[in-house]
Amino acid sequence: MITENEIIIGDEKFIPFITEEQIQKRVKELGEQISNDYKGKLPIFIGVLNGSFIFLADLIKNVNIHCEIDFFKLSSYGDSKISSGNVRMLKELNADISERHIIIVEDIVDTGLSLNYINQLLGKFKPASIKYASLLVKPESLKFDLKIDYIGFEILNKFVIGYGLDYAQKYRNLRSIYVLSQ
Ligand code: IMP
Repeated sequence: MITENEIIIGDEKFIPFITEEQIQKRVKELGEQISNDYKGKLPIFIGVLNGSFIFLADLIKNVNIHCEIDFFKLSSYGDSKISSGNVRMLKELNADISERHIIIVEDIVDTGLSLNYINQLLGKFKPASIKYASLLVKPESLKFDLKIDYIGFEILNKFVIGYGLDYAQKYRNLRSIYVLSQ
């Protein structure tokens, strides 16, 4: 059931956390920052599926330089709310990223396991540069020493849904972000 103020899933309740307006404002700022940082370059935005697709779409609409996009897919969470600790590659990149400026786009960095795996994997293709953009970061749960260059919002270690983020594959279509209430 979805109402304006809360989302009930079984016996769990999600409440409004980051509004559509707040998200759009921040994504615009990030797009402008990236446009400045990559002036004169042709970056490739690489979205990590599935969660990043909405953020990536909104982000590049706010980028005013030429850019390309590609996607790859990892699996770690399954349908659970807790990271399984394993990362598997489910879809590989199509683009040749050697000598290219790449920006990896994540919906959320939790433990950092996925990003760390991506970092090691993509580094092997010798891109000209690698930067990371994530709409959300949970600094308290980070277990890897990672520099995330473009961060939308830092949040506490709580489970969130909406704007691309799922719970058992649902709720990605929400326009704002909701948090699990205790
Ligand atoms: P990490 O590898 O632990 O950093 O987890 C990254 C991935 O876990 C993200 O790309 C999401 O798919 C998923 N994830 C982490 N936290 C949440 C959350 O609060 N809600 C929904 N998905 C999450």
